[in-house]
Amino acid sequence: MPEAEAFRALFAGVDQLAPGTPEITRRIGKLCKLDKESVVLDLGCGAGRSSLLWAEEFRSRVFAVDVDSDCVGRLQEAARKRGLEDRIHTAIEEMQTYHYQDEEVDAVLSEGSIYLMGFENAARHYRQDLRWGGHFAATHLTYVGDVRPEVRAFWDAEGGPYCTMEENLSLLRQAKYWPVHHEVLPEEAWRAYYAPIVARIPALRERFAGDAEGLGALDRFAREASLQLDGGGWKEAAYVLYVARKM
Ligand SMILES: C[S@@+](CC[C@H](N)C(=O)[O-])C[C@H]1O[C@@H](n2cnc3c(N)ncnc32)[C@H](O)[C@@H]1O
Repeated sequence: MPEAEAFRALFAGVDQLAPGTPEITRRIGKLCKLDKESVVLDLGCGAGRSSLLWAEEFRSRVFAVDVDSDCVGRLQEAARKRGLEDRIHTAIEEMQTYHYQDEEVDAVLSEGSIYLMGFENAARHYRQDLRWGGHFAATHLTYVGDVRPEVRAFWDAEGGPYCTMEENLSLLRQAKYWPVHHEVLPEEAWRAYYAPIVARIPALRERFAGDAEGLGALDRFAREASLQLDGGGWKEAAYVLYVARKM
């Protein structure tokens, strides 16, 4: 399918697949009190930018789950190069059915992937794997303040409609978590995600010339990046970090 092919070409080999910065990933580790004793799940780990940091800087044992074998392969390679093979364990599986069986885990974490399972669904489902007092943390698209109609229309059609921050905090409380932190990710987090992908678009337009579906996919991504960055959409359709403790 040309549209899927264009998306694959856009994202192939990219290390960062969602808004974020190493500082945010580090803050998640600190807020979740990760250390060398911690057992962590990274849901939708992608090429492993978060898993690698939690394993390297906090010495935690990370179980990284993703359906994409190419991404998981790149994470394994990076872990080997950094001498982290004993800290990072991978599974090519769907987060909806993955179950860590050996013991209770200290943290269930996900940067940019929880929408695939649903924020509330994931919080409720993975509560059973968390020890009492363990942390659930995710970065997730969230409507903040007065969202302009054009921003809302775009994101409603891109996997939405999304909840507000208050609604997500309330969902966490209803699922028996105690929210301990939430913050809107800065513009820099979106730039870090978009920049390398947007830079590929001119060459890909040539490759997909004459292919309406392929070009349509490229246009849609370019429109998203422009809406979020040039149009300031990142403040309204914001990426929010939520950290909550199981109670
Ligand atoms: C938006 S990316 C985020 C990746 C990574 N956390 C990051 O921030 O760079 C979402 C990831 O979820 C993976 N994914 C898609 N569906 C999934 C599923 N059902 N279970 C687990 N992972 C899934 C994709 O392969 C992709 O790597």
